[in-house]
Amino acid sequence: MSTYQVLISGANRGIGLEFSKQYAADGWKVLACCRNPEQAAELNTIASTNSNVRILSLNVADFAQIDALATQLKDENIDLLINNAGVYPQSSFGDTNYDDWARAFKVNTMSSLKMAEAFVQHITRSQLKKIASLTSKMGSIDDNSSGDSYSYRSTKTALNMIMKSLSIDLKPYGISVVTLHPGWVKTDMGGYNALIDTHTSVTGLRDVIEKLNLNTSGKFIAFDGKEIAW
Ligand SMILES: NC(=O)c1ccc[n+]([C@@H]2O[C@H](COP(=O)([O-])OP(=O)(O)OC[C@H]3O[C@@H](n4cnc5c(N)ncnc54)[C@H](OP(=O)(O)O)[C@@H]3O)[C@@H](O)[C@H]2O)c1
Repeated sequence: MSTYQVLISGANRGIGLEFSKQYAADGWKVLACCRNPEQAAELNTIASTNSNVRILSLNVADFAQIDALATQLKDENIDLLINNAGVYPQSSFGDTNYDDWARAFKVNTMSSLKMAEAFVQHITRSQLKKIASLTSKMGSIDDNSSGDSYSYRSTKTALNMIMKSLSIDLKPYGISVVTLHPGWVKTDMGGYNALIDTHTSVTGLRDVIEKLNLNTSGKFIAFDGKEIAW
């Protein structure tokens, strides 16, 4: 069986770390990207016993770094790109930090398009040809019944639109695209009162990604396989 390769951003903790663990345990080659590799203790432990795991430095808000990484990896095929890195800017009506919002827009929204532009050739050459981005149900306009969280919600709503356009524009390359809601997950971002653990979330998300193909490309799907209204 040929070995697939996945590139994951924000791979040092939370959902990204769990993706790295599960794909590595399944025999995939993992390009585990994070801002501070030397501080990524759990990833380093995994990499020390699994030569398929490579830890790479990447701040997704630094687009020159994205281009440099794409050049560094120019001879690699990437079967699956997972845009996982994300931030949660706090904001409520009357108390909006516009600088935080602009920074979050770069990480949560623009970086997914930049990653697709930088890595499209690596993905096109691969066997599976898939891109997944972690969005949130909080970015669903249809699902918004509680208001608030203007900054986070809007970065994810805009990400959803980017992913939809990518699913159309990259179809001729044979690349399929999915926009993922991981559930409310026990991580630093989700908080430890959340409903599910990272193992449950990522097991479900991997199943969704495995079923993804060109016919199902361009949808917004939760970890339990249910489609979410935009
Ligand atoms: N947890 C939930 O309930 C939930 C629900 C819906 C959607 N999501 C989405 O799922 C994804 C993962 O969330 P999580 O819960 O695992 O969050 P988390 O525990 O807060 O982890 C966030 C990850 O993103 C990385 N990151 C942040 N800014 C970055 C940047 N500029 N460059 C590279 N990496 C960066 C962090 O790296 P550092 O360690 O360097 O900060 C960390 O690895 C996010 O996109 C989030 O919006 C989560």
